[in-house]
Amino acid sequence: MSQAIVEVDYDELIPNNVGLADDRRLRRALESWHPGYIDWWKQMGPNGFQDVDVYLRTAVGVSRDGWAKFDYVKLPEYRWGILLAPAEEGRRIAFGRHKGEPVWQDVPGEYRAMLRRLLVVQGDTEPASVEQQRHLGSTAPSLYDMRNVFQVNVEEGRHLWAMVYLLQKYFGRDGREEAEMLLQRRSGDADRPRMLGAFNERTPDWLSFFMFTFFTDRDGKMQLESLAQSGFDPLSRTTRFMLTEEAHHMFVGTTGVARTIEQTCRVMRENGIEDPYATEKVRALGVIDLPTIQRKVNFHFSVSLDLFGADVSTNAANYFNAGLKGRFRETSIEDDHQLMDTTYPITKLVNGDFVRVDEPAINAINARLRDDYVVDCEKGVERWNRSISSAGIEFEIRLPHVAFNRKVGEFAQLTVTPDGALIADDAWQAQRDDWLPTADDLQHLHDVMHQVVEPGEFARWIGPPKTYIDNKPGSFEFVKLHG
Ligand SMILES: [Fe+2]
Ligand SMILES: [Fe+2]
Repeated sequence: MSQAIVEVDYDELIPNNVGLADDRRLRRALESWHPGYIDWWKQMGPNGFQDVDVYLRTAVGVSRDGWAKFDYVKLPEYRWGILLAPAEEGRRIAFGRHKGEPVWQDVPGEYRAMLRRLLVVQGDTEPASVEQQRHLGSTAPSLYDMRNVFQVNVEEGRHLWAMVYLLQKYFGRDGREEAEMLLQRRSGDADRPRMLGAFNERTPDWLSFFMFTFFTDRDGKMQLESLAQSGFDPLSRTTRFMLTEEAHHMFVGTTGVARTIEQTCRVMRENGIEDPYATEKVRALGVIDLPTIQRKVNFHFSVSLDLFGADVSTNAANYFNAGLKGRFRETSIEDDHQLMDTTYPITKLVNGDFVRVDEPAINAINARLRDDYVVDCEKGVERWNRSISSAGIEFEIRLPHVAFNRKVGEFAQLTVTPDGALIADDAWQAQRDDWLPTADDLQHLHDVMHQVVEPGEFARWIGPPKTYIDNKPGSFEFVKLHG
């Protein structure tokens, strides 16, 4: 397939660049799934904002520049489409036992079950986050932020479409059933929860939202990066395009937390408060104290680490061997890409100390991806710390130790401090409130969050962004609440 066939067909009910008009079976499957999706969106998408006009980005192409256009759209009328990144001429499988073979355009029979599982797990996270975020509109700190959460939401919806496309096109009846199930599960539901823990947590306030987009969407980014390496080319092309949208979600998280921190520091300075632990004084000024932000970091980081699964994993080894899911930036790693006799140092508890132990690299795929994730997180944290120190306040946000507060993998049963000390369970419980958000913290977050809808105005607890979107000024009406 040549680079030329990337035009997006917007005349169809479902905008696409996958030749849907010529694939009657697939079109019928997607068209019969569509009404259920719209029902789901209206029921579980942004609560109370289905009729407002939102200044949204819609993907209209898949080339690097000029792939999106901005315009006012009512949320249920967003054009959710199926978009694949351009095919790479002559692409070959980059890793695993099929390394060097041409990529697959169809699902190899022997890997059908594995691939289906990968698609369903990825697909399940997309609608889950929309469900988690559905109440945020009513406490948006500005129209700009309100527009951003809705943008993230419609794109997560589109990512669900992306996975459903792959299921329906390549997995026949099984795929259609899975696509149906993706609309049935609900975040936090007792009977039919979403598949992964972090996607069943609540996102009750905007700091949680920014932490979620920073930490949990970043897990999503790492997963998509690994799938973009896939030897199953339709999956690679699908996820490569999803990553272009995902970059905005990271941006919302990084800048959202940064603006919160900057505002806290600014208000502290204006009021002559130097002690970051003067919690009551800081809170009385209507901003969020830095220790609360640290506890939120501890929580969101640790639940997001759980998403990487077991440190030593035969499933991950199987995905890698099969050529279905690679490592982060697989092609720029210098090794044999088959991991025959290579080792990778993974963190383990040995005689009460955390040390790096060499494991066969093939079994350490998850641990390695998680390490790459931590490095990616650290960049954002450094940026936050620069703004704290330039405000002259002595406080440093730190990522907790990887074994802190874990529910999955190697460290699940351990009671470890954020500094990485293994302590007794009762000692851990006694200090829990220093490390993880307390009922009091959450109450304060709840109390400061109130909706601000005057263009260019922001809630007290957060500062304005440095730049807006699409070269618009701060006074721009990013959401028109009244028709
Ligand atoms: Fe997504
Ligand atoms: Fe995302």
